[in-house]
Amino acid sequence: MKITKSDDSLANSLHQRRQKLASLINFPTILWSGRSTPRNYPALTFPFRASSHFLYFSGLPLENAAIRLESGKLELFLDDAPASSTLWHGEMPKRAEIAELIGADAAFPMAELKSRSSSRAPLTTNAATIAVQDAFTQLQQSQILDRPLAPPTSPTGIDLELTKAIVSLRLSHDAASLAELRQAAAVTVEAHKAGMAATRNAQIEAGVRAAMESVIISENMTYAYPSIVTVHGEVLHSEHYHNSLQTGDLLLADVGAETSTGWAADVTRTWPVSGKFSPTQRAIYDVVLAAHDACIDYISPGVEYQDIHLLAARIMAEGLVDLGILRGNVEDLVEMDAHALFFVHGIGHLIGLDVHDMEDLGDLAGYEEGRTRSSRFGLGFLRLNRVLRPGMLVSIEPGFYQVPAILNNPENRTKYEDFVKWEELEKFADVRGIRIEDDILVSEKGGEVLTGKLPTKAPEIEELVALNT
Ligand code: GLY
Ligand code: MN
Repeated sequence: MKITKSDDSLANSLHQRRQKLASLINFPTILWSGRSTPRNYPALTFPFRASSHFLYFSGLPLENAAIRLESGKLELFLDDAPASSTLWHGEMPKRAEIAELIGADAAFPMAELKSRSSSRAPLTTNAATIAVQDAFTQLQQSQILDRPLAPPTSPTGIDLELTKAIVSLRLSHDAASLAELRQAAAVTVEAHKAGMAATRNAQIEAGVRAAMESVIISENMTYAYPSIVTVHGEVLHSEHYHNSLQTGDLLLADVGAETSTGWAADVTRTWPVSGKFSPTQRAIYDVVLAAHDACIDYISPGVEYQDIHLLAARIMAEGLVDLGILRGNVEDLVEMDAHALFFVHGIGHLIGLDVHDMEDLGDLAGYEEGRTRSSRFGLGFLRLNRVLRPGMLVSIEPGFYQVPAILNNPENRTKYEDFVKWEELEKFADVRGIRIEDDILVSEKGGEVLTGKLPTKAPEIEELVALNT
């Protein structure tokens, strides 16, 4: 970790976040950052990513650290690197320097978290936490707190109270997080432009991926999730990059940057490898774009996110009826989830310190209290079911996919026999998957597209692909 300069605005924001937490709960909190996992020998590790809850209150990706929050005060627990590590890692910032940077009220070696007693009780008594992802740290959390820990998706007691308090804070972004999110969005826009411009000279998907991630890495950022750069857009989270790029293919790129303190962007564009959409590709693209644009226009405080999903479903169904792929009344088609044969996922999710923000908590963040996932095929994949509030950042990402496992499923074939014109669908065989995704900040007035500098209209996309050729 490199620390460059003290940032007063960061320390102020962290202070405010702690004060807000203190106004919501009246017991101490201990949050662990986690640690990296070795690949084969201890010094060769998988990349470290600090727990997002820890990052939210500490601001820095410290490894193997903990913070204790009580009444708005922060104590940092972190071991200074041993002198012998200088040979391999250089001079590391000392605990005291880091404590100052994040505005900690005190700082101690890690062992003191367990052993140090205040005048009243040990520091760990009645302290709430959220279980981190790595098993080693989870065990440490449980040992230090001297109690079993429930998974973060189903906390109980004070851990549940803490989780709800943190969710209420992290749902709406403050000025410091927005500054980071805007940077992640801006770099992501450039990465997509670079990917489009690199396509005509690339032989395989990996060439485009390299061009996109190169922009992100050059800004000292990383990717917020494994990049999806594929001519098989129907494979929703494809992590293969070996396929050759053929004239006539559509390339779907879902790539987002993450800043060095963990804030994410999440953008998808789909473009023709040749630089020109075929008529069938263009027809479906424009239906997906119509859904994308209408959903973004509809974003406003007080709007139910599920209604935005249903709006996308209606526009997709209407467009597919107009193209002769679906048959029937649009409302009825949506009611029976016929749109979901092609628009197979939810319209989007929260974005913040994680690309699917706070989904380590299951649906505790994404779903308003008292709401649960629908069992409906066309609603069950919705990751966010809340009333929109100013400061929330959400993705809008309608898509059209021809997933063989869904379209060839005998039950679906029977259920939708009268509503899908299968012979018409065959004419669209060159459209395997299209998704268009942007990141929208809910503002007092409506929605602000943080990634709006990246074009979405087909002719502009074609122009960007034609650059450099
Ligand atoms: N960017 C991947 C997803 O939203 O699932
Ligand atoms: Mn997304």
